[in-house]
Amino acid sequence: MKAVVAGAPVSRSVVKRFVAGEKTEDAVAATRTLAADGLTASLDHLGEDTVEAGQAEATVQAYLVLLQRLGEAGLTSGGRAEVSVKLSAVGQTIDRSLALDNARRICEGARNAGTTVTLDMEDHTTTDATLETVRELRLDFPDTGAVLQAYLRRTEGDCRDLAAEGSRVRLCKGAYKEPESVAYQSDGEVDRAYVRCLKVLMAGEGYPMVASHDPRLIAIADRLAEKRAKGTYEYQMLFGIRPGEQRRLAAQGESVRVYVPYGDEWYGYLMRRLAERPANIAFFLRALATTS
Ligand code: FDA
Repeated sequence: MKAVVAGAPVSRSVVKRFVAGEKTEDAVAATRTLAADGLTASLDHLGEDTVEAGQAEATVQAYLVLLQRLGEAGLTSGGRAEVSVKLSAVGQTIDRSLALDNARRICEGARNAGTTVTLDMEDHTTTDATLETVRELRLDFPDTGAVLQAYLRRTEGDCRDLAAEGSRVRLCKGAYKEPESVAYQSDGEVDRAYVRCLKVLMAGEGYPMVASHDPRLIAIADRLAEKRAKGTYEYQMLFGIRPGEQRRLAAQGESVRVYVPYGDEWYGYLMRRLAERPANIAFFLRALATTS
């Protein structure tokens, strides 16, 4: 299936548009191109739901090599290029302490390269464990970033807990299919929850990372950030989605970080997103049709 998708003209252009490539060098090259346009990056070595310790180890090694190469290329200074890590890719489903140890090794690699790690957030059954891992990592690596998903009913409270000095928090809408018992279901409810969470983060002492392509939410973030100095918060968008807007915000002096997935497990990244939520098919098709 992967070969068919990679070979068909339309889907090949989808892959190229949303995934930087399969190799470390591709990720470094994409980061360099973004940097030339004044954009920072968070790199995601694709792969998740690892069920073998050996595979988790391969993921750790991939991140360590990437961080070293980014450092050698001069792309990590001041956190310009950091990495995003899914705990399930480094062993969370096998053993939480294995995932913590592996995440710690990636944090060490990031520190050696002069940069940081953000732990992606996965489905709601992992939220507590992931936030606990963030807390533990922050004891040694205080700049470890957390991700909160506005669609979860609990998230406004999590924002209050995490809006402390030095706390880097990425706020996204959330990408998993979640039950009504834990998550808002309608777009309107999710958007309103996003704004409530954003207010908490922007009023707090931490470093909000506004991860959305939604023009209304970006405009609201812009207003809420008026009292903040530039550089005390940032916008984040996915590689290949609204690149024109990414550059427009950067040209206005905003900090903009692009989430860059790479690696040979891109098939799962694309297909999972399309399969999980039908709305994501429209999301990707819309992204293909526009560069603004
Ligand atoms: P949404 O998809 O709801 O779109 C809202 C509006 O934005 C649209 O109506 C349209 O106006 C505009 N828009 C969107 N795409 C457009 C396009 N291509 N062209 C023009 N207009 C467009 N999720 C998760 O569960 N865990 C995580 O760790 C992360 N991490 C993460 C990092 C970063 C940097 C980003 C940007 C996102 C994530 N996500 C995530 C994914 C996130 O939860 C969410 O699924 C997607 O970002 C889609 O939500 P949006 O807020 O972009 O708006």
